[in-house]
Amino acid sequence: MKKYLISILLILSYAKSFSQSFKPGEVWKDTDGKAINAHGGGILYHQGTYYWYGENRGEKRTVGVSCYSSKDLYNWNNEGIVLKTVADSTSLLQTGCLIERPKVIYNLKTDKYVMWFHHELKNQGYKAALTGVAVADSPQGPFTYLKSLRPHKGIWPANFPEDKRKIDTTSVTNKPPTELKERVIAGEIVQRDFNTGQMSRDMTLFVDDDHVAYHIASSEENQTLHISKLTDDYLDFDKEYHRVLPGLANEAPAIIKHQNKYYLIASGTTGWKPNPARSYVSDTIFGKWVSLGNPVRGSEEEKATTFKSQSTYILAVRGMKNKFIYMGDRWNPDDLKDSRYIWLPLTFENGKPTIHWKSSWRLE
Ligand code: GAL
Repeated sequence: MKKYLISILLILSYAKSFSQSFKPGEVWKDTDGKAINAHGGGILYHQGTYYWYGENRGEKRTVGVSCYSSKDLYNWNNEGIVLKTVADSTSLLQTGCLIERPKVIYNLKTDKYVMWFHHELKNQGYKAALTGVAVADSPQGPFTYLKSLRPHKGIWPANFPEDKRKIDTTSVTNKPPTELKERVIAGEIVQRDFNTGQMSRDMTLFVDDDHVAYHIASSEENQTLHISKLTDDYLDFDKEYHRVLPGLANEAPAIIKHQNKYYLIASGTTGWKPNPARSYVSDTIFGKWVSLGNPVRGSEEEKATTFKSQSTYILAVRGMKNKFIYMGDRWNPDDLKDSRYIWLPLTFENGKPTIHWKSSWRLE
């Protein structure tokens, strides 16, 4: 009898941390039974394993970047914190800084794992608007922090008209939103930031079929996306970058390629509060990007809040053709570490990426 009880208890405790489906919005536990702490994340697939990187949020501050690994996308092993903020007060990475939306890509030429992330400095709120880069020899890290920067200092966007290429450092920041939008569209923020480098906040990375990688970030006071080519080793910015959808205030960008077209999902700019998602399509990575509207199919409330989530990544599932997962965050600003994961199937309906709600689902 005692033997049976023990086996039942063992089975129950095993079942507790074993999952076979996605349950958006519930607490997701790792294989140790602890809540997964990887927000604003992204996924790297490498040699049969998925690695999920995300913001590790502590009680009050960013701890660093977490890494979890999985073979099936349902069960995640905690690989620890692969990039940590540091006590050293001379480092830009000092405790109290913000590390958001980390993404990792693998460089075939150098055999290195490269992480880029949105970086804000200690006690400066969201003023710095930097992008940071770190590198590792293995997907489980540890990652070595290299630098943070505002990209493209002294370089005009490739699609910036010749007659606008003049520096103007007059502040256009404290303008009413309507006026700011006009000034953004006119290119005044690009001109203002020409000498110091362009602002870089919400970001993602995208590696194309030819292994060229791109950094996609909200720039120009979060009003315009900048899509930038990275250097061959992925550790720096190449010269070429393009302004995309100026003045449309896209944040939380996520990009996939599907049947030779590029698709972008983004959110609006309402901080931690959810808003309607947007979707776009383009024949080339730099554009022209054309709106495909809100990808959410559901009630008015679901469309208005993207199922109470904000995009962070779209995963193309390996070995399953045309299988994509929309990955979003349901932020809890009062307790960021308790923000939940909203993963839903992303399908194409009439050529448009669409997302429907499912409270529990499997890949098949
Ligand atoms: C959101 C952004 C998040 C975080 C937040 C802070 O708009 O997508 O990553 O920066 O603002 O309020």
